[in-house]
Amino acid sequence: MKRVYSILPLVLAVSSGVAEAAFTPKASRNGLYPLDVVDELEAATMSKVEEWMAIKKTAGNCTLENAVVRQEWSDLTVPQREEYISAVLCLQKLPPRAPKDKFPGALSRFDDFVAFHMTEAMMLHDPYHLFASHKYFIWAYEKALRDECGYKGYQPYMNYDRYAQDPVNSPMFNGNASSMGGQGLPSKYPGIAQPYRKPYDWIKPGGGGGCVTEGPFKDMIVSLGPKGHVLTDVPKNPQSDGLGSNPRCFRRDVNRNSALGATANYTYSTIMDNKDVDAFYNRYLGMPPLVNDTHPWGLHNAGHYMFGGDPGGGMLDRVWWIWQMQDPENRINAIPTGGMAMPPHQLWEEAALHPYQRAEDPKDVIVDLGWIAPAIPLLELTDQLGGNHGQFCYIYL
Ligand SMILES: *[C@@H]1O[C@H](CO)[C@@H](O)[C@H](O)[C@H]1NC(C)=O
Ligand SMILES: *[C@@H]1O[C@H](CO)[C@@H](O)[C@H](O)[C@H]1NC(C)=O
Ligand SMILES: *[C@@H]1O[C@H](CO)[C@@H](O)[C@H](O)[C@H]1NC(C)=O
Ligand SMILES: *[C@@H]1O[C@H](CO)[C@@H](O)[C@H](O)[C@H]1NC(C)=O
Repeated sequence: MKRVYSILPLVLAVSSGVAEAAFTPKASRNGLYPLDVVDELEAATMSKVEEWMAIKKTAGNCTLENAVVRQEWSDLTVPQREEYISAVLCLQKLPPRAPKDKFPGALSRFDDFVAFHMTEAMMLHDPYHLFASHKYFIWAYEKALRDECGYKGYQPYMNYDRYAQDPVNSPMFNGNASSMGGQGLPSKYPGIAQPYRKPYDWIKPGGGGGCVTEGPFKDMIVSLGPKGHVLTDVPKNPQSDGLGSNPRCFRRDVNRNSALGATANYTYSTIMDNKDVDAFYNRYLGMPPLVNDTHPWGLHNAGHYMFGGDPGGGMLDRVWWIWQMQDPENRINAIPTGGMAMPPHQLWEEAALHPYQRAEDPKDVIVDLGWIAPAIPLLELTDQLGGNHGQFCYIYL
């Protein structure tokens, strides 16, 4: 029987094909990739989203019909991918807004985002902020691409599962003109430590790690960092905080070993096996590690080191949304309270005994992204269909 690649939940649920007049997004998928278990879960969740939209009172002018669609990279046409790439290259040429005295290494608008993520990494990944502040951060990035660089589309995301088995030959990383750039040259890159996850406490290198020499980002100049000492052959930053100007090539390791920890079954179980928000938060960050699992690093880390960059420009935001929408009334404003601190600096047992202590009620927490976006209450950022004073209005497909 022919597979139907459609989001229509009823088409999927009732494969005999009696589709009731459910919501149909203004976008379609690329038939090359069969739906994975998370895509199917997302499709099946759309009826819950519809119910939720009908009962909640805070949507402002946002409806499922006017919500924009953030699509998976390969579901964009090749010209759409190129349009996105052009906008990113444009952002890399615009002047920075981050204060020059504190961030001499920020050379472009693109670096503004890097500089913020770098200096506020602890805050951005703590239990209060991991989900909602990243949602805001990505939205601000999308807005900069659109408002400042004329991008007409929306932020794409990367479904790790589509590329996990062979990322270097995928439409994201094959290094051609419509990819996000290729593999780095072979290097002495040793891989990444994943403390406390013995015996799988090391993500083995994926064969790259050196300069990227093909694709749209082959001439990209990286200036900020490094902060720690990750690669043996990366020049040191002139400042110990990593914020000085240190122009050098763009290095990366497109890494299948890491990607295998972010296949759809991991994402599915992260969403479905963790009803409690603290458990969801912990599992997302790979804490405590799955017992006897060969890739126990959590979606966040596995996604990061799949290509040594931002974890998929939206995939983790999508995962949070699907998790929320399993039980919207109880989960929309669920903020972790007892999650473990990130990054892990204690033994697991100790971290479990001394979970993150909340100092404030989440409703009093303000998210301040400095030069990235205006300060806003945390709980204004949890609903992607009406939050951010109505400016969040998007779904993932
Ligand atoms: C909803 O209204 C706000 C404020 O007028 C506007 O910025 C936003 O673009 C609107 N959203 C949609 C989806 O029409
Ligand atoms: C690049 O690779 C993708 C994925 O294989 C392909 O669809 C596309 O046509 C290729 N060529 C260009 C110029 O983008
Ligand atoms: C996901 O599938 C892989 C490959 O079959 C397996 O090794 C791994 O344990 C699974 N992980 C989870 C969380 O189900
Ligand atoms: C993990 O593997 C060890 C050694 O094979 C085994 O003794 C133990 O029962 C396993 N634990 C779980 C939770 O599966």
